[in-house]
Amino acid sequence: MKATHLYLLLHVFLSTSVLVSTFEPFSTALVLGIGATLGRTIYNYLHESCEPKWIALNATGLKVDLDRKLYGQHIASRIILKAVSGFMSNDNPKKPLVLSLHGWTGTGKNFVSQLIADNVYKEGMDSSFVHIFTSELHFPHASQLETYKSQLQQWIKGNVTNCAHSMFIFDEMDKMHPGLIDSIKPYLDYYDKLDGVSYRKAIFIFLSNAGGESITQTALDFWKAGRDREEIELKDLETLLSLAVFNNKKSGLWHTSLIDKNLVDFFVPFLPLEYRHVLQCAMAEMIARGHQPDPSVADQVARDVVYFPKTERVFAVKGCKTIESKLDYYI
Ligand SMILES: Nc1ncnc2c1ncn2[C@@H]1O[C@H](COP(=O)(O)OP(=O)(O)OP(=O)(O)O)[C@@H](O)[C@H]1O
Ligand SMILES: [Mg+2]
Repeated sequence: MKATHLYLLLHVFLSTSVLVSTFEPFSTALVLGIGATLGRTIYNYLHESCEPKWIALNATGLKVDLDRKLYGQHIASRIILKAVSGFMSNDNPKKPLVLSLHGWTGTGKNFVSQLIADNVYKEGMDSSFVHIFTSELHFPHASQLETYKSQLQQWIKGNVTNCAHSMFIFDEMDKMHPGLIDSIKPYLDYYDKLDGVSYRKAIFIFLSNAGGESITQTALDFWKAGRDREEIELKDLETLLSLAVFNNKKSGLWHTSLIDKNLVDFFVPFLPLEYRHVLQCAMAEMIARGHQPDPSVADQVARDVVYFPKTERVFAVKGCKTIESKLDYYI
C-alpha cells in the first residue's frame, strides 16, 4: 500500500523535475519550491510524526480487540476501554493517564498494553512514541540508582518534549527500586508544566504481579462457591488489591507515595486464566500462524498445561504464557 503511494508520488516528483529544465529561472524556482514541499509531504506521509494522522485513538478498534482477543478479563477489559477512551477524548487532561495493571503471570498484562498501543498509534508497539522499560533489563544494578534516576528523568522529559502523546510502559514494576519510582512521580502529578514541559497528555502503564495472589484467592472463592467468574466485580478486588500492594514489603510500589497521592488513576486487576481460556489462546495462536484452528489440538495443548491449586486444578500456573512454544510440539 505504502510502496504504491510512494511510487506514485515519486513519479509526480520526477515528472516535475523533468519539466524544470524547459522553464525559465522564475518558474524553475517555483517548481523547485513545489518539489521541496512535495518532498516534505512524501517524507511526512511515510515517516511517523507526532500528528493525529499517526496518533489517534481508534475506540471501536480497541473495543473490538478487547472483546475478541483478550480472554477471561471482563473487569480489566471494561476499565481499560473506559480509561483510555475518556482520556484520549479529553483535549485538556489535568494529568497524564496512569494505569497500574496487576495480576498472575501470563494473564495478559503486556498483551493489553500492546492492544492499547495498536489502537492509539498507527505503528503500534513499533511507534517511536511508545517506550518500554523493564526493571531487570534497564535498571539492573541498585548501586547505579542515581545514574538511572537522572537518565530516566532526562529520557522521559526528552520524549515528552518531542511528542506530548508519548506512552511509557514500566514492566516488572514490583522489581523496580522505590527510589526510581519516586523519581518519576513528578511527571504523573497534576502539574501544568514542569520546566516548561507539560506531561498531561502522556500515558504511563505500570505492570506488576503485585496483588496477583489475592486476586487469585478471590477468583478461587467464587469458583468454590459455584459462582460465575463474570460475577466478580471490581469492588470485590479493589480493597484486597490495594492492601496487597501496600503490604507487600518487596514491592517497590509499597514504599512510594504513588498510591496515597492518588497518582494512579486506575488499578486494573487481571484474573488467573482457566482451562477454557488456555484453549482459546491455543486456537488464537494457530490462527495467528496461518493454520486451520483445530479444537482437538487446542484441547491437547490446554490439557498439557499445569493447573493450581493442586487438588482443584482450576487456574493455569503460567496463564497463556507458554502456549506459543507448546504448540510447536503439536503442529
Ligand atoms: N487474557 C489473555 N487473552 C488472550 N491472550 C492472552 C491472555 N493472557 C495472555 N495471553 C497470551 O499469552 C502471552 C503472554 O501474556 P503476557 O505477556 O501479556 O502476560 P503477563 O500478564 O504480562 O505476564 P507476566 O506477569 O509474567 O509478565 C500474550 O502475548 C498473549 O499471546
Ligand atoms: Mg508481562
